[in-house]
Amino acid sequence: ALELLARRAGISLDSIKKSPHGPSRALMLDVMRWAAEQFQACLLDSPLADSARNYLGQRKLTGESVRRFGLGFAPESWDWLVNGALAAKMQLETLEQVGLIAKRNDGASYYDRFRGRVIFPIRDVRGQTVGFGGRILPSAADGDGPKYYNSAETPLFSKSEQLYGIDQARQAATKAGYLAVVEGYTDVMMAHQHGIGNVVATMGTALNARHIKKLRGLVERVVLVFDADAGGEGGVDRALEVFVSHDMDLRVATLPEGLDPCDLLAEKGPAPFQAALDGATDVFEFKLNGAWKDAQTGIEGQRRAVEGMLNVLAAAPEERTVKMELMVNRIAHRLNLKEETVWTRLKELRGRRADREAPRSTQSEPAPERKAPAAKHEVELLEVLLAEGAMVAIAIDQVATDEMEHPGLKQLLEGLYRLHAEGVQPGLDHLRGRLDNEKLLDKAREFQERGLLHKDRSGYLQSVLARFEERRSQRRTQDLKSQVQVAGDHDSAVELLRQLPS
Ligand code: UTP
Ligand code: MN
Repeated sequence: ALELLARRAGISLDSIKKSPHGPSRALMLDVMRWAAEQFQACLLDSPLADSARNYLGQRKLTGESVRRFGLGFAPESWDWLVNGALAAKMQLETLEQVGLIAKRNDGASYYDRFRGRVIFPIRDVRGQTVGFGGRILPSAADGDGPKYYNSAETPLFSKSEQLYGIDQARQAATKAGYLAVVEGYTDVMMAHQHGIGNVVATMGTALNARHIKKLRGLVERVVLVFDADAGGEGGVDRALEVFVSHDMDLRVATLPEGLDPCDLLAEKGPAPFQAALDGATDVFEFKLNGAWKDAQTGIEGQRRAVEGMLNVLAAAPEERTVKMELMVNRIAHRLNLKEETVWTRLKELRGRRADREAPRSTQSEPAPERKAPAAKHEVELLEVLLAEGAMVAIAIDQVATDEMEHPGLKQLLEGLYRLHAEGVQPGLDHLRGRLDNEKLLDKAREFQERGLLHKDRSGYLQSVLARFEERRSQRRTQDLKSQVQVAGDHDSAVELLRQLPS
């Protein structure tokens, strides 16, 4: 609070010792609010934001919506915000802490992380800005990064916890008795614009236990709205897992084929969307209906249907709760099985799950991101590849994923290779959907940023590949040397020595 007041009063902070834990929460919030104001002023008034205003107009978002959600624009520049911060005497370290800017490779100067993007402030339930989502304009070039950038994970902001629009939706949700959860920022805005106010979005992750904890006390019912096209199926299973072990009335709404809420609302007005919300099905029934449909295909289909349901149930803690009893009962009746058979199978599946998970938990291997710092050439490889996905095709023939010693970086490289193998453009965009590790993705984004700073990326890649080759030959030499030491006879020792590079 002292820091904050001192800054407002224009008193120098130099005399005040900085906390060893980084800037305080108040200071970070202050920076967030300041930045949100800069972005918004830019969007509303600056000629730099012409294309952004046009874009929002095309998307049919009104000025009122833009103001209500505090949208802004970060111009296409590497130092627009940095310069603004310098002029306003903001602490650059704090801007860095909250993920607005990052250090250049020289370690001294900073660059803007959000460039040429429409800014969606992400606010907590009290309306304080804790993070930003930045949407690229459709005119952006390929390789300008993912469609949305979100703030890095900070003490203020955790992507897997936040609900976009919760500050705006709270009252309407209490009134309606439920909250609808959609997938995109623009879906939320469009719903509000059409008078449906009890709508929020997760931040590109499935609804999880932490969300539920936040929502309990606010509403008793949550309606999940899935884009008809998107990975709705996986979403339903995740939702069912949450449902199974939490006391929340969780329902699923399905929209007419091929339209996300934003398009549906813009094209057809609020009625069909509201109808979908009103007609939402209990997530358990929803899954059971799906299973039942599969079961029509015969015995094997039925067996698989039961397995599918029970696999999800098996993820819940081992307790014979009323809810579990009700669910088992429903499965048995719907699929014409004895309840006892269902219980037995559930128990077996639980046992298997435990077996599968046990080795993981007893290996006291630390989480990837806490491992020793990564080797420079490993980091640099990812910098290049994340900045220029086309180069994955070159790297895949020259560097094996096993050559990465850092487990997190290895995971990223594996992800990129897999995308390449699947014929998908390898990049952060698609990694996001497959890697369930926010910290790692944050890192990846940082790498990408730094990679983009290199002008001659193909030259850079060559020098990184050369370093991998160096490592390889060092290792070969070492291997040979140790083999020589243990070689039993003179001849084989000589043979081994001959293989050493001169
Ligand atoms: P969508 O691609 O459906 O976004 O992703 P949207 O909000 O509907 O965007 P428009 O309508 O094309 O502008 C849904 C959500 O997933 C997260 C964002 O939270 C987004 O709102 N997301 C998506 C990301 O975080 N990064 C991405 O690259 C893409
Ligand atoms: Mn969408």
